[in-house]
Amino acid sequence: MRRVAILISGGGSNMEALVRDMGGDHPARAVLVVSNVPGAGGLAKAQALGVPTAVVDHRDYPTREAFEAALTQALRPAAPELICLAGFMRVLTAGFVAGWEGRMLNIHPSLLPKYKGLNTHARAIEAGDAQAGCSVHEVTARLDDGPILGQARVPVEPGDTPDTLAARILPWEHRLYPAVLRRFALGDKRPVLLP
Ligand code: GAR
Repeated sequence: MRRVAILISGGGSNMEALVRDMGGDHPARAVLVVSNVPGAGGLAKAQALGVPTAVVDHRDYPTREAFEAALTQALRPAAPELICLAGFMRVLTAGFVAGWEGRMLNIHPSLLPKYKGLNTHARAIEAGDAQAGCSVHEVTARLDDGPILGQARVPVEPGDTPDTLAARILPWEHRLYPAVLRRFALGDKRPVLLP
């Protein structure tokens, strides 16, 4: 059974989808949810699901390295083997990422390699793209880069706003990330393509 820590910053709907999937014959178990934002909605969701939580508030630390040292301390007792970033909105340093190479996943709300960074849905609409979606990838030192482990595509509809497009994509995030984690936990890195 692979031990999985999930890092969040917000509502934690992807975290919830991952935790709910990790039962029964699933090859992994959620052992800890960490938020860098105190009071993030996902913390209460994790507790309700019976998963231990921790908060490491990045504002308490003078540098990214100091924040990450505290994050490492918070993770250690749970002894995770894999990390899933799920709406975790801090950039991690190359040093931290190197320590988790091949063992850290992220979900990003665009069809990577398009639209790394923020405001992905607005950028897809602005560009006139016919399709948008989400990607799960291995985390490497470069932001929103790294081998793609799965993607889900949805149409961009006439009149879409960033909010309507996000609402169409989010349920696919909740299908894609658990599907990728199931495979990845068994060492299978072949991309999951949805729908
Ligand atoms: C999700 O849409 C996720 O793809 C995105 O934040 C949202 C978190 O929602 N992640 C990023 O933008 C990462 N750069 P959630 O907290 O409900 O899972």
